[in-house]
Formats: sequence, structure tokens, C-alpha cells
Amino acid sequence: MTMISEANKRKARELTQQMTLEEKIGMIHGAALFHTAAVPRLGIPEMVFDDGPMGVRADTYDDNWAPRHNTRDEVCYLPSGSAVASTWNPALAFETGRVLGEEARGRGKDVILGPSLNIKRSPLCGRNFEYMSEDPVLTAVQGDAYIEGVQLSDVAACPKHYAANSQETDRLEVDETISERALREIYLPAFRSAVQDAGALTIMGAYNKVNGRQCCESPMLLDGILRREWGFDGLVVSDWGGIKDTAKSAVVGIDVDMNVTYDFDDYRFGRPLLEAVKAGEIAESLVDEKVEHVLAVMDALKMLDDARKGRKAGSYATIGHTAKTLDIARESIVLLRNDHDVLPLDRSAISRLLIVGANADRIHSLGGGSAVIKAIHEISPLNGINGFVGGNIDITYAEGYYAPQVNQNDTWQEDSLENAADKSADEAERARRLRDEALALARDFAASGDPIIFVGGLNHDHDLEAYDRKGMGLPYDQDALIDGLLDIDPDTVLVFVAGSPVEMPWQPKASTIVWNWYNGMESGFALAETLFGAVNPSGHLPETFPVRLADCPANSIGTFGLEGHVDYAEDIYVGYRYYQTKDVPVLFPFGHGLGYTTFDYGDLQVRAIDDMIRLDFHLTNTGERAGKAVPQLYVTLEGTGEDRPALELRGFTKVALEPGERRQVTIELPRDEALRYWSTKAGAFALAPAARLHVGESVGDLRLEGRIG
Ligand code: BGC
Repeated sequence: MTMISEANKRKARELTQQMTLEEKIGMIHGAALFHTAAVPRLGIPEMVFDDGPMGVRADTYDDNWAPRHNTRDEVCYLPSGSAVASTWNPALAFETGRVLGEEARGRGKDVILGPSLNIKRSPLCGRNFEYMSEDPVLTAVQGDAYIEGVQLSDVAACPKHYAANSQETDRLEVDETISERALREIYLPAFRSAVQDAGALTIMGAYNKVNGRQCCESPMLLDGILRREWGFDGLVVSDWGGIKDTAKSAVVGIDVDMNVTYDFDDYRFGRPLLEAVKAGEIAESLVDEKVEHVLAVMDALKMLDDARKGRKAGSYATIGHTAKTLDIARESIVLLRNDHDVLPLDRSAISRLLIVGANADRIHSLGGGSAVIKAIHEISPLNGINGFVGGNIDITYAEGYYAPQVNQNDTWQEDSLENAADKSADEAERARRLRDEALALARDFAASGDPIIFVGGLNHDHDLEAYDRKGMGLPYDQDALIDGLLDIDPDTVLVFVAGSPVEMPWQPKASTIVWNWYNGMESGFALAETLFGAVNPSGHLPETFPVRLADCPANSIGTFGLEGHVDYAEDIYVGYRYYQTKDVPVLFPFGHGLGYTTFDYGDLQVRAIDDMIRLDFHLTNTGERAGKAVPQLYVTLEGTGEDRPALELRGFTKVALEPGERRQVTIELPRDEALRYWSTKAGAFALAPAARLHVGESVGDLRLEGRIG
């Protein structure tokens, strides 16, 4: 993994001393939409950035968001952040990063703008699909592995958006009131470990305000916490348009000013900063520090001098990378419910099959905002299922509901700093006709006992940068269609392709529910393998699926999605921390995920060895198929004298077991990590005197209990 060394810093200092003020200024603001200026006389190249978390974005012109429309920027499309988190498998998060890093290098990039590490505070956040989880530990573990994978290729990862960019509404201005405890325990930990444990070389400052200060000018976030407390000596880049005030950002630890507009010379760290330094209003030493951060990262990435010859070359759109995207997708799909063992479907016992739903015949890589990907291919569910089952099953497809095809406007980013309006179109009439057709077919298939698969959910008209969803309901009248299908056949297999939870009012009638996320270029194939049992699902939810939006703490206790100001009044009680503590029933709990086999847990032993806590237990595969379990460790802190959540995730592992196999499993973690909490009384991290420990398959399905103290 690439890290910044003392030698990199020395080199950066030496070069900075040789530069004119104009040259230095050129290195700390965009000279184009995605790169800074070079200093050819000193052999310093441009620093090239590109989006984003699910693959390397297509080429735009330097001074225009319009795409270049060539074929050499077609790339592999990786499963979304939520899907990667859903594997609960750091080895796969690492592979995600490794593929992305190789592709970024292959495309000539220096910094890839991901992973997106913001916490899923509300199901409505438009960028939830990019984000990993409602839980800081899961986000940090998967995020760290991803970053380490990226940086193997002499490319910098850029965890974003620092910090608390958990809503899109008014994202440039919204002021978020967040307690120090919630920042420390929920919103910052994944960024801390990204820079301290994974060694991220860069980080992106968020658009929003936290406690009254823009993130890109916050002395508390940038200087106090990131630079001083965490010792970050890499490069901080603004989100595109995140720097608004030259002086306020110049004096804090943010280095590079990028933006979405074409007036590059007038970016805040361009001419305005140059003039302020010349006028003696801002010290040149502040500019030097920023340039040194950029150069140190460049040197660590082997971008300077002869080191260039030894820099990794990367590769993209390869078959090897494609195969990896399939491996990741296979472990991210979550089997939410399989009450009648309808799944896996038996290929040899089926002669015809009905597939209903617009998301069956749809690809998603071409939307979402800056995470958009020009994929070399993307297998839709319909494509995947047809391709997998072959010619002996007669597959009928019915659209079922009307969802107009997303066509992300090529130059949307030009206007992305403006708040946007609700886009949902009312196509009720057409929807009714499509529904009637699908239900008629369903009646026919149900009468002969042939299976029906529904594939619906959201798309990037809803899971979308710069917008939050207005509600948690399924769009396009899908509820009515699903209701009708379930009346005809309660064993209809319901598959959802989406980045955020939806309300499921019909769920008491449904026996079989599968959650597929936006799952990368091989998504449809991984889904087919899962539905037909070639893959035993092992994805687990990285977030709670609440029954209804009104149950969600961000939307009921706190405020969410407002312009101007939102209050994180739910404090640390985000997601399951709230539902478990307050006994609020949920649709599917955090960590939940079924498979085609079952696991037994037993014989928990808890030992303290030096500074470590070690849990050993037995895990047995009690079914007839090989499968992967995800044992999760939760703590209940005791004796803190402060209010604490009932359960907090502190560790997990993923274990593959053959049918009937029994194995000892170990989860080990530093004692301090198990007992740590942010004490509001002390205004600092403290250790609880004792804790109960729970191991289970989800936060709602705990199987073993122990204690430390
Ligand atoms: C997004 C960032 C992205 C940047 C560059 C902004 O709109 O918030 O996540 O990396 O644009 O495209």
C-alpha cells in the first residue's frame, strides 16, 4: 500500500521552495474540471482526479461537462457501496478497491473519488446507494479494505464526503446541528480509520455545514480533528464547488479547490488567493503547506522524476476485473424472506416462467449523478435469468409498471449546485394498462403452478445525487401491482433492485423477498445464480429496513431533508441503535440475511488475553448446502452512567461451511475497542467498566451471550 513517507515530504518541501507563487497557485485549484495545472519546468505533472466509487467515470472535456463520446473510456462497473457493505466480507471490499484502483490507473488517473463513507441516516438520502451502512464499524471495516485495495495501484483513494453529508437537499448550504458524541461515534469513525488505519492519501471535504461552519472551512473538522488529532498529512480536496470563501478556506487544512464551473482562473484558490497573498492578506506559507501536501502525495504515487518509470500501469475493462465484479455481486444479494422455501428454484422442474417488472429489463450504470459509469456491459435481471437458465425454460416478460427510462443529462453537473424539483412523472393510465396485462399473465401462470418473479424497486431517478426521495414508498404504483401479484400467487418471488429501503405494505402476504442493490455489471447473472441455487445467498443488510418512514429516528426525532437547517437530534440513536433501544418493530433488522442453509451457534468462550478480547464459539452448518455465515458481535455497555444504545456492533466475520461442518470461530478485538464510547460528561472517549457481549446472525437474532468487565 502506498503511504506518505518522510522522504516524500522532504521532496515536496524542496520542490515547493523552487516554485513561483503563480506555479504554486496553479497546483491547488482546478485548471480543468478534473485536474490541476502542471509545472513542466520542474517536472511536475497535472494531478488528475476522477469519479467515482463504482468505476471510473467517462471522460468529459477539460472545460465542459459534455462527454467525449469515445469508446476508450468504457470500464468495469462495480457493485455500489451498499452492495459491497452487504457482503460483510472485507476481502471482497478489498477486491472492489483493487479493481477500481487498477482501472483508475489504467485510465491515467491519480486520485479516484471514493469510497463514499457517509452514514445512512435516513432511508431517503439520495446518495444512500453509494454509501455503505448506517453503522460506523461496518463502514470503517469495508471502507478500509476498499481503500487499501485502491492504493495498491499507485492511485490515491479519496474517502468522501468529510463530514456528515447524509442528505442531498440543500446540500451546499444546509447547516447540520450534530452533537460531539454523534460526530465521534457515528459520523467520523470511518473517516478516522480511512486515514489512520487504511492510510488514505487524500480526503474530500463535504459541501454542507456542520454546527454552523462549512466543512471546507471548518477549523474543527480540518485542523483540530483531521490534521492534528488524526495526524493526516495527505491532500484534502474540496467537493466540486465546496470552497466558497477564499480567506476562510485558505487558513484551514484544505489544499485543492475543485469546482463544477469553467472559470478556472477565478476559482477561490486561483486568482482571488493569488491576489490576497500578494496584498499580504494571506501568508504565502499557507499556500506552501497546501502545495507540499499535493506534492507529497504525488511523490508517494510515483508521479515525479524517474520514479514514474516504476509506477504501476493499471488496466481496465478486463475479463479478470469483470469476473471480480461477479464474485462481489454474488455475496451482496440479501435473501430477506423465504418462508415457503420457494427459493432456490429448481431449473429442471420448470418449463415456463413469468418475469414481471420494469427493473427486470433495465440497467442502472448510466445514472445516479457523479457515480455514473459507462460500463462495457451490464447484465440486466432479464438478461441474466435468460442467459443462465438457457433454452429449456420458456420465459415470458411483462413490464408490469411504467418507469420512464433514465437518461442522465450529459451536462447535469453544470447545474448541480442548484436545488432541484420533484421529477416523478404521473403516468397512471399507462401504468394501469401494463399492470392489467401483467396480472392477466400471472393468473395464467399461477393456474398451472408456474413460477412468477417480480423485479421492481427504484432506479437512479430516485437514488440520485442532489435529490432526496420524498417518501419511502415504491414509485410507479408498484405496490398495487405487487398486491395483485400476491393475491394471485403469494409465492411470487419479489426481487428489488434499489439503493435504499422501501416501505412494503403488502409484506404480510409475501413469502419470498430478495434484495439486489445496484450490483454492478454482472448483477443480473449473480441474481440468476442466486434464484436458481448455484449461489447460496450470504449478503446481510448493512442497514435497518424500518416498517415505515415515521419510525425512522432521523425523520421523527431529528429533522431531515429540510433546507437551511437540520437537527441530528436523534444523536447516536441512528438506525438499529434506535430501533433496538426503543423496541420499535422493524421490517428487517440490521445484519439480517438468510441463505439456503441454517447455522447453529454454541459454546461461547470469552477470554481476555493481554489487551485483546477473544471470543471463541462453535458454528455448525445444519443444512444440506454449503454456505457462508456472518456472525456479528454486539456489545451492551454497562456502568457508564450515561445513556447508551442497547446494542452496538463491534466486530464480525464471514465463515464458509460445508453441509454438516462444525467449526470453531474466533472474533478478536482490542479491549479498548470493545468498551470505548464517547463520554458526554468527560467530553472525551472513555472506557465502560463492563459490557455484555452478544453474537448473532443479525441485531434481531442474537444467539450467544457473554460478558467482560
Ligand atoms: C459530488 C462528488 C464528486 C464530485 C466530482 C460532486 O457533485 O458530490 O461526490 O466526486 O462532484 O464529480
